[in-house]
Amino acid sequence: MTTTDDRTTAAAVDPGPLIKLTIADCAAKVLHSAVSLGVFAALAEGPAGADHVVAATGLHERMAPDFLDALAGLGLLERTGDQYSNGPLAEAYLVPGTATYLGGFVELTNETLYGTWGRLTEALTTGAPQHLDPDKGGFVGDKHKDPAKMKRFFAGLDAYSDRMGIEIAGAVDWSRHASFVDLGGARGNLASVLVKEHPHLKAGVFDLERTRPLFTEHTARLGLNEHIEFTGGDFFTDDIPKADVIVLGHILHGFDNDRRRDLLRRVFSATNPGGQVLIYDRMIDDERRDAERLLSSLHMRLVSQDGSEYRIDDVRTWLTEAGFTGSTAEPLLGTHTLVTAVR
Ligand SMILES: C[S@@+](CC[C@H](N)C(=O)[O-])C[C@H]1O[C@@H](n2cnc3c(N)ncnc32)[C@H](O)[C@@H]1O
Repeated sequence: MTTTDDRTTAAAVDPGPLIKLTIADCAAKVLHSAVSLGVFAALAEGPAGADHVVAATGLHERMAPDFLDALAGLGLLERTGDQYSNGPLAEAYLVPGTATYLGGFVELTNETLYGTWGRLTEALTTGAPQHLDPDKGGFVGDKHKDPAKMKRFFAGLDAYSDRMGIEIAGAVDWSRHASFVDLGGARGNLASVLVKEHPHLKAGVFDLERTRPLFTEHTARLGLNEHIEFTGGDFFTDDIPKADVIVLGHILHGFDNDRRRDLLRRVFSATNPGGQVLIYDRMIDDERRDAERLLSSLHMRLVSQDGSEYRIDDVRTWLTEAGFTGSTAEPLLGTHTLVTAVR
C-alpha cells in the first residue's frame, strides 16, 4: 500500500529519466527514416534549406520542420539560420556512395527492429523468437534462404566489417602469420579488407555453399576474387580449412553454449600450431551491467532460436577448454569485444 511518506519520497525522485525512456526508440526511428528518405544524401553537396530537402526526399511539409530540427537536436544535422547541413557523424557515415557509408546497417536495423521488438512481451512470456517476415506476414524461419534478403543482410553487415577489418588489421601482428580463414565470412568483405591491408596473407572464407554466388559477385566487384578462396560447407560437420588465424565474427552469438564449445574445439583442430583465433561479438561485460550489450543479447534471443550474446569470461573459458591459451579481450569499434587466443 502506498503511504503519504512513500509519495513524498517518490516525488523527490525526478521522473524525467523514466519519461525520456518511454520515447527512447523515437530517436532511433528518426534516424532510420532519415536514411530511408535520403535526407543525408540530399545534403551531400552542402547546406540547403528545408524546401530543398522536401523536394529531394518527398518529406511532407507538415512534418519537415520538426523532423529536420529533431535530426539537428540529435546531432545528425546542423542548422545555421534556415540552412541545414550534415553534422560530422552524418558526413562521415551516412552519405551514400562513400567508402565509410553505414547506411546499409541502419537500413538493416530499420527492417528488423520494429516488428520484432514490438513483440518483446510475447517473447518474454513464451521464450519464442519473434522475427517477423514482412513479405510473408509470418515468422522468419531462416532469412538466409531468400537470396535477395541474404544480400541485403550481408550488405548491412559489410558496413560494419569495413571498419572491423581496419581495426582487426591493426590489432594482430599479421607479419607472424601466413594465412587466415574467416569462418562464416559471408560474402568475403572482412577478408577483403584484411587482404588489402596485409597482401602477404593467403585468405580464405568458409561459409554455407548457398553463400558462394554472393561471395563471387562481391569479391569480383572488389577485384579480389583471385586472392580469396571460398570453401562451402557446414562448420559443425565439414572440415574447416587449416590456417594460421581463424576469425569468427558474429558467429558464436547465433548458437547455444554446447554448439559454441563444439565449434571452438573444431576451430582448435583447424588452427595451425602457433596460430591464433579471433572472435568478435557484442559480448556482455562479466558483471552483466552494460545495458547496451544486454539489449543486444535480448535482440539475438528475439531473432534466433538459440542465439544470445555471452560474457567475455565465458568465451575465454570455452577457449581454454578447447585447448587455446593466452586469451586477451579488447574493445572493438566501441560496440563490440575482440577476444583472441593462441594455439
Ligand atoms: C551473422 S553472419 C556473420 C557474417 C560475418 N562474419 C560478419 O561478422 O559480418 C553469420 C554467417 O555465418 C554463416 N553460417 C551460419 N551457419 C553456418 C554453418 N553451420 N556453417 C557455415 N557457415 C554458417 C552464415 O551463412 C553467415 O554468413
